[in-house]
Amino acid sequence: MENPFERARGLVGGDGPERVRVRPTPSLSHRAILNPYHEPADMSAGRAFFGTGAPVEVEIGFGRPHFLRERLAQAQDRRFLGFEVRRAWCEQVMGFVDREKLDNTRIILSDARPLLLPLLTPGTVSAFYVFFPDPWWKRAHEARRVVSPALLDVMAHLLAPTGAFEIRTDVEAYMERVRAMVDEHGGWTEQPAGIDDLGRTLPLSHREKKCAEAGTPVYRLRVGR
Ligand SMILES: C[S@@+](CC[C@H](N)C(=O)[O-])C[C@H]1O[C@@H](n2cnc3c(N)ncnc32)[C@H](O)[C@@H]1O
Repeated sequence: MENPFERARGLVGGDGPERVRVRPTPSLSHRAILNPYHEPADMSAGRAFFGTGAPVEVEIGFGRPHFLRERLAQAQDRRFLGFEVRRAWCEQVMGFVDREKLDNTRIILSDARPLLLPLLTPGTVSAFYVFFPDPWWKRAHEARRVVSPALLDVMAHLLAPTGAFEIRTDVEAYMERVRAMVDEHGGWTEQPAGIDDLGRTLPLSHREKKCAEAGTPVYRLRVGR
């Protein structure tokens, strides 16, 4: 499948190779970090790490990594791939995987979208999580919204038969758009949100904890193929 984000420019994080050339970002160095744009060998290392047959879960935009941290501890049978474009949140992951001696995750400081197809094997992903994506309200910024028909194509291609995509947001209009996009894309079936394929209750993300404290409504959707 051709990567629909291959030539993406001006999106969040930008097109990987282009961004590295134009505005070099110092890469992070840690056993849990993959730097596929700076270290080409990391692409094959990532493919090997996620291609063992163990179920794979992917979180796009983990932010303060509360969900990732709790889920890593909860589901040690799985391998996790986390993407985040802010360095500070990646550094937090480096800290806790060392302290907690975890080796079931790899994270990437970059826009997730162009890297999903090169890194992952079709039919192997148990879950994609997108929690509280930036809404990018302005029409001119619409292309920066993470969830798009192109992302649904990529996820449908990579999901395992029992896999699912789960999204949570406090922006009702964003959820309405995602629901409409999923309906239009076709072939998705709604599942109970907040529960994994083995019936385990999923942790809350940092933003969701804040919403719970403030009494802000959260909209959740989980869909599988
Ligand atoms: C509003 S925050 C939510 C963080 C976290 N998911 C939560 O629920 O607490 C959205 C995060 O997504 C990251 N982000 C946005 N677009 C991204 C992309 N294309 N790839 C990776 N991370 C992205 C942002 O840097 C930000 O940390």
